[in-house]
Amino acid sequence: MSRRNRTANPLPLRRADKGESAMSGIRKTIAVLPGDGIGPEVTRAAVQLLRDCAEAFGHHFEFQELPFGGNAIDRRGSPLPTETLSACRSADAILLGAIGGPQWDALPLEKRPEAGLLALRKQLDLYINLRPIRLRPVLQGISPLRPERLADCDFEIVRELAGDIYFGEHAIHGTGSDAHARDVATYTAAEIERVARYAFERAATRRRRVTSVDKANVLATSTLWRQTVTRIARDYPAIALEHLYVDNAAMQIVLRPSQFDVILTSNMFGDILSDEAAALAGSLGLIPSMSRGRDGEPALYEPIHGSAPSLAGKDVACPIGAIFSACLMLRESFGLEIEAQWIEAAVDRMLSRGYRTMDIAQPGSRIVRGSEFTEQIRAEMHDSLVHTERYGWGV
Ligand code: IPM
Ligand code: MN
Repeated sequence: MSRRNRTANPLPLRRADKGESAMSGIRKTIAVLPGDGIGPEVTRAAVQLLRDCAEAFGHHFEFQELPFGGNAIDRRGSPLPTETLSACRSADAILLGAIGGPQWDALPLEKRPEAGLLALRKQLDLYINLRPIRLRPVLQGISPLRPERLADCDFEIVRELAGDIYFGEHAIHGTGSDAHARDVATYTAAEIERVARYAFERAATRRRRVTSVDKANVLATSTLWRQTVTRIARDYPAIALEHLYVDNAAMQIVLRPSQFDVILTSNMFGDILSDEAAALAGSLGLIPSMSRGRDGEPALYEPIHGSAPSLAGKDVACPIGAIFSACLMLRESFGLEIEAQWIEAAVDRMLSRGYRTMDIAQPGSRIVRGSEFTEQIRAEMHDSLVHTERYGWGV
């Protein structure tokens, strides 16, 4: 039977139906915020794979789709309608596509789609943003760095997400050459402490190294940042801590990315450095993220790419960032490591066989549309499940 035929009937193996794993199946509610631009198409792909995962492993995922961002401005008059916020609060996890687009660019800051995202982060107290930057060996060729510089590029950015200049006063007054504007950056020690602890705990499960990034030679918030991180580090004697100024960090990321394990940084610097780092891993389109608050509260998962309005509706967007975000959800919020690996491995095999969306193509690649790419991943997932049914995991 050809691969294409198998795609038509993707997952006939209902492990739960056979009574094997029905006991271990979990039940979760996932709020889905497709958003704007390519958000809906990449989210659709991720939701499809989560459905396949539930079916194959006997889990029960309930999806609730909600307006958010620009489409919510158009339909509900607000980027974060109250129904969306309350559904997110009561969900077990949130999957977000992307928001924004030129049609909302002229709105004042507080009315834009981005204001909805910031309000959601604030309301749910999502103070940690995790962005794993891992170069997939098969994609080395699309990284702008030479292979010898890339080495084993595998680090995580832990970005503070609920404070800093993002949430201080933003004001612009006057017009023409009399105009003036201000943005206020603030941090409390408590805000720095809680995200720093997370970074140290994360590093403890990895290569035990935290690089804290600030601008302590100029900014007061950064001075407090450095003092606080240094103080918290005493509770984690097994973790090596170093401090870098953000300008130097930006340079080190392109010079020798393999030196990093966990990068801990503030909201603004994390925003900038994570786009830079994502480019090293081949494309912004590949990188997932998790935004989370306290244990037990719902976390939000989203690709770090934007809404790419010029690509929207053309079925060319790469769904990998959204798919890996779903994997991160399985792993981090639901503790489903095998399920996450199952999906990730299928993506890797697809890439190795040369299937690519336009943005990650290399000479000789087989360029496919986003939806076909997703179907091929599903076929891979199915094949590996058949193999596993016969021979067991890990064979
Ligand atoms: C991100 C985005 C957002 C941010 C925008 C859309 C507000 O760039 O998640 O990195 O700046 O945090
Ligand atoms: Mn950003």
